[in-house]
Amino acid sequence: AASDPDLVARARAAKEALGSRVFVLGHHYQRDEVIQFADVTGDSFKLARDAAARPEAEFIVFCGVHFMAESADILTAPTQKVVLPDLAAGCSMADMARLAQVEDAWDAMVAAGVASSVVPVTYMNSSADIKAFCGRNGGAVCTSSNAESALDWAFSQHGDDTKVFFLPDQHLGRNTAVLKMGLTLDDCVVWDPRQPDGGLTAEQLRDAKMILWRGHCSVHGRFSPDTIDDLRATIPGINILVHPECVHEVVLKADLVGSTEFIIKTVEAAPAGTAWAIGTELNLVKRLAAAHPDKRIVFLDKTVCYCSTMNRIDLPHLVWALESLVDGVVVNQIEVDPDTEHWAKVALQRMLELPG
Ligand code: 13P
Ligand code: SF4
Repeated sequence: AASDPDLVARARAAKEALGSRVFVLGHHYQRDEVIQFADVTGDSFKLARDAAARPEAEFIVFCGVHFMAESADILTAPTQKVVLPDLAAGCSMADMARLAQVEDAWDAMVAAGVASSVVPVTYMNSSADIKAFCGRNGGAVCTSSNAESALDWAFSQHGDDTKVFFLPDQHLGRNTAVLKMGLTLDDCVVWDPRQPDGGLTAEQLRDAKMILWRGHCSVHGRFSPDTIDDLRATIPGINILVHPECVHEVVLKADLVGSTEFIIKTVEAAPAGTAWAIGTELNLVKRLAAAHPDKRIVFLDKTVCYCSTMNRIDLPHLVWALESLVDGVVVNQIEVDPDTEHWAKVALQRMLELPG
């Protein structure tokens, strides 16, 4: 649907009034009505770097979800204020790992005698206190753009004995371990926080190379291998391009796998006349289809599949946040406490220093 012209004019006026005092970041899964006001768009890795590279902006308005705004707060100067236009824009995957649960799992690794060779690595899609847990325990953050180099780094920390405790997305962890690191499915075990002792014995913890947290993305978890078979049968020559948050069976059947930034670059570089089925969030897939009318771009699912929390950031919320700043009121500021910030920054810096 077209954006409300009155709200468009108000957003434009508020941005103009704020000038270089405000910098608006937009994740690729944001609505069109919001993304039109982003000074920069990107995947979560690019946005974390872009936020850190804007020391002159007094306000960072983050059009994305809560964990991204927290990371921006951690990476920006203490004087800069990060605003999330709707505080209800969380992430169901990030909510699947709570600090107390993660500490229980760590205690079990200590009891099994393996913790000293375990490197915790958390996906960006996690709360700041989980990132801080990784920072405190010699680990790092990764995103879907750099999961392979993060695991390369992690596995080099304690020689052959090294194990990685990967949070909270079991699929990104498994897909990267098996497809990029040469591990087998048997090298991976899943810690289920809903079960006593995570559903794992001390022996299983000792034998594993990858201890995966039982978390997933409710959006990417919906794509199925059957849909890929159907599409290949109906559109001959179609290329299947998916995000690594998809289940392993989907990733195995796909032609290409990568972060949202990779998906965009792949489609941009594809020759005219090619056909692509894309397994990621629908706002992005629709935008790609509209921007590339010379290519056939379809969504890799029969049903509509937006990220409902990303979609909570809409034009009315953005206008409210910007107009409040014009009025001198900072609404919905995201602030991470200093101790969490310190250790989360350690883990984020390890990621930012990875090669590649
Ligand atoms: P990225 O490609 O930005 O890692 O996005 C995946 C995602 O689900 C963001 O929430
Ligand atoms: Fe979280 Fe998935 Fe939405 Fe990303 S797409 S914010 S991982 S629920």
